[in-house]
Amino acid sequence: MKPLVPLFVILAVIGLAYGGGQLADTRYLLGIVLPYAAIATFLLGFSYRVIRWAHSALPFHIPTTCGQQKTLPWIRSSWIENPHNKRGVLTRMALEILLFRSLFRNSRAQIEEGPRLLYTENKWLWLGALAFHWSLLVILLRHLRLFVEPVPRFVIGMDTIDGFLQIGAPQLLITDVVVVAALLYLLKRRFTDRRLRYISLYTDYFALFLLLGIVITGILMRYFFKVDLEGVKQLALGLVTFSPTLPAAVGPLFFVHLTLVSLLFAYFPYSKLMHMGGIFLSPTRNLANDSRRQRHVNPWNYPVKVHTYQEWEEEFHDKIKNSGLPLEKE
Ligand code: HEM
Repeated sequence: MKPLVPLFVILAVIGLAYGGGQLADTRYLLGIVLPYAAIATFLLGFSYRVIRWAHSALPFHIPTTCGQQKTLPWIRSSWIENPHNKRGVLTRMALEILLFRSLFRNSRAQIEEGPRLLYTENKWLWLGALAFHWSLLVILLRHLRLFVEPVPRFVIGMDTIDGFLQIGAPQLLITDVVVVAALLYLLKRRFTDRRLRYISLYTDYFALFLLLGIVITGILMRYFFKVDLEGVKQLALGLVTFSPTLPAAVGPLFFVHLTLVSLLFAYFPYSKLMHMGGIFLSPTRNLANDSRRQRHVNPWNYPVKVHTYQEWEEEFHDKIKNSGLPLEKE
């Protein structure tokens, strides 16, 4: 039941956008007004969340660690798992962001006969997530050819590598195949794994269906139902240079693609997709574990009025002496 609601929402958006892509007034709305509104929502929402995170309290040093801490020079420390300086933090962050290192350690707990708790390797999620994110990045960079004139050389180079299988015309791009396969895998595991299905929310399915919708309409446009790419480029360049014009010939499928992309952008800052920005601001990741070597003062600390032992002894000096208790200062 949970996947059905988001699926119907996406299908309804697709239907509306397809219909809207055929009428002059709604084409203006979908082709110009909606993308601007979505980008504005994205930028405002993204900045708002990042600024709020940056302002949130961080009274303690709380990096997550899982290796030998830096101590004596002759004890080998684990400088990536337990970074003690900026170099370690940067390396750990880079490996996390580029290679999803912590996901690589994903293991699976099962109860076997006995009963016996068994931990097994599970690298599929790591592979699926990595394949999806990297393909998405390549696809987004490829779209620069629609927004930049002349097309940057690296985009052309990337396309040559991506299409090296030289299958069909236009050439089949590996990232298109990989992104669909990865998204289907990510969806499949939510359907087939009982525990995962139980904790999955509407929004988990929504994000996956939305991305699948975008990718599938893009693929349909590239390989099956050609759209007027000149017209799309004219629209895209118009949007980024703030002088939008609506070309007449672009087909309705393009408006479905663009509407779904706009929905993704508008939805992004209010969803779990914000992990893209959050990873950089995560104190469990971006701090060095050096709290034994360096004193970190809580920024909220205000001067506290203390009553030292010496002062206390002085105050009760006579009473302590009369009761026969020892004094530090006679
Ligand atoms: C999150 C953003 C987007 C994603 C994930 C996405 C995804 C895709 C994918 C997977 C394809 C298939 C071909 C390829 O891989 O190049 C595609 C094609 C296409 N996309 Fe997008 N897209 C996005 C944004 C946009 C935007 C903003 C526009 C236009 C303003 C656009 C216009 C097109 C067009 C015209 C094609 C067909 C290209 C061709 O015929 O070679 N896309 N898109």
